[in-house]
Amino acid sequence: MSRTLAIIKPDAVESGYAGKILAHLQDRGFRILAMRMTRLMAEQASVFYAVHRGRPFYSELVEFMTSGPVIPIALERDSAVAMLREVIGATDPAEAADGTIRKLYAESKGRNAIHASDSDENAAREVAFFFAAADLLA
Ligand code: CMP
Repeated sequence: MSRTLAIIKPDAVESGYAGKILAHLQDRGFRILAMRMTRLMAEQASVFYAVHRGRPFYSELVEFMTSGPVIPIALERDSAVAMLREVIGATDPAEAADGTIRKLYAESKGRNAIHASDSDENAAREVAFFFAAADLLA
């Protein structure tokens, strides 16, 4: 078993898709270890997305991720990082495979419904960004 972090982004929370996305994740074998709803401050979003600083879309990304509530979710299953990336689909919903979360619920490359960690190392960092060890189901 391994862990990853998903974030239901402001577009999907605002559109009322959070429940459907949670059900989709559970149907694909993910166990929810912890979740909450929060609104990020710009400073938090810039720390979380520090790896993207300097990219042309960076300020748009921080602005969007602070524009409304988000739902970070710590998830567990086998091959959690790779499996979550498969289940959410490509960054751009126009390129996402049928049946993926981004194909079903995302609006655009920027407003793309859900975030997923891209490596085990980043998953550990990102889970710890939102949750204390005591918040996670044993
Ligand atoms: P996410 O996986 O959360 O991590 C980085 C985010 O940057 C990515 O999702 C996209 O939402 C966003 N992103 C990547 N490329 C672009 C782009 N060309 N224009 C706008 N946003 C982008």
